[in-house]
Amino acid sequence: MNKLKIGIVGNGGISQLHAMSYQAISDRAEIYALCDINKERALAMAARLGVPAERVFDNVFDMVKLPELDAVDVCTWNNSHSECTIAALDAGKHVLCEKPMALNATQAKAMKAAAERNGKHLQIGFVRRFGNDIEVLRNLAADDYFGEIYYAKVNYTRRNGCPGGWFSDKSRSGGGPLIDLGVHVIDFSRYLMGNHKPVSVYGASFDKLKNRPDVRKTSGYFSSDAASSDIYDVEDLACGLIRFDNGSVIAIDAAFSLNQRGDRGDMEFFGTKGGAKITDKVELFSQQSGYMTNTELCFPTSFDFNGSFIAEIKHFVDCITVPGTVCISPAEDGITLMEILDGLYESARTGHEVILG
Ligand SMILES: NC(=O)c1ccc[n+]([C@@H]2O[C@H](COP(=O)([O-])OP(=O)(O)OC[C@H]3O[C@@H](n4cnc5c(N)ncnc54)[C@H](O)[C@@H]3O)[C@@H](O)[C@H]2O)c1
Repeated sequence: MNKLKIGIVGNGGISQLHAMSYQAISDRAEIYALCDINKERALAMAARLGVPAERVFDNVFDMVKLPELDAVDVCTWNNSHSECTIAALDAGKHVLCEKPMALNATQAKAMKAAAERNGKHLQIGFVRRFGNDIEVLRNLAADDYFGEIYYAKVNYTRRNGCPGGWFSDKSRSGGGPLIDLGVHVIDFSRYLMGNHKPVSVYGASFDKLKNRPDVRKTSGYFSSDAASSDIYDVEDLACGLIRFDNGSVIAIDAAFSLNQRGDRGDMEFFGTKGGAKITDKVELFSQQSGYMTNTELCFPTSFDFNGSFIAEIKHFVDCITVPGTVCISPAEDGITLMEILDGLYESARTGHEVILG
């Protein structure tokens, strides 16, 4: 079988993990072309990966003209996901697009329409769906461990973790921690709870601490374009409630800056028969023979970050090359996530609940 020829657009931080993942399945895919508006960055990555300089571009419209290119992996800032994805689909390429799918649901719908009119595969980079921890929880759910999961509390908050650069510039990111971090845990929990349709949201956002300009940075969260001249016009904390058509609810907290002990990334799921909490381990709360029980899983002991990217990219290649493969993270779910985020930002702005169509 011919190897799938991949072009990666956006050659910054996360693209390195995507590249590592294609290399892990180098018998099935090869990184054939690279593109970044920062050409120096693209050339440096090409030198590391052995991609010839004539296949390095600074404009996605030029890269997608390569007739032999099969697929494009979009790892740019959020504001160009839509443009790069549609350019690639209209040039007849399949696309894997990083999360969040776009800046808003309108852009996301245009991307799905482009995939449909060109008959090409469009997958969204909801990498947590490919994690070893959700695999455990989905196996438990399939065995009816939870009963009905009717409530989830998901928290992705940092004490001093605004990466700066494009992350804090709303024109390029679309927002702060809600669209950057919240998207992971909202999608993860919605997926585990059965992918129900959201019907309403209520949200609030704050910019009280901003990017803590007066505090020395102690964490490792730095954008690759962070600079002292950074724009900071995004929220530093967002919280919200998302209600689904089966009556279930997800409560979300996402923060770049918050006065709490350290950083948190925990998710709790509450079912009629049992509950679970994911931190750096998986804990289960249930009952046995009339007694309340707490159980800690021996394996997996923690979320395998690199492994989840390899699984995501292997699935992307499967979807394109293995007939009958059903996409685990389709465009449709990317749109739903953007509708939830649009609604939460709108609710935070107006102070009212937003009913989702
Ligand atoms: N799945 C995850 O866990 C995860 C983690 C980090 C980032 N991401 C997502 O990946 C994307 C990139 O994030 P990052 O941290 O790698 O950012 P980054 O700034 O390190 O890299 C992005 C690169 O895209 C380039 N770029 C921007 N617009 C472009 C365009 N129109 N054409 C070509 N190149 C363009 C920039 O010059 C930059 O080199 C974001 O959407 C982010 O949300 C996902």
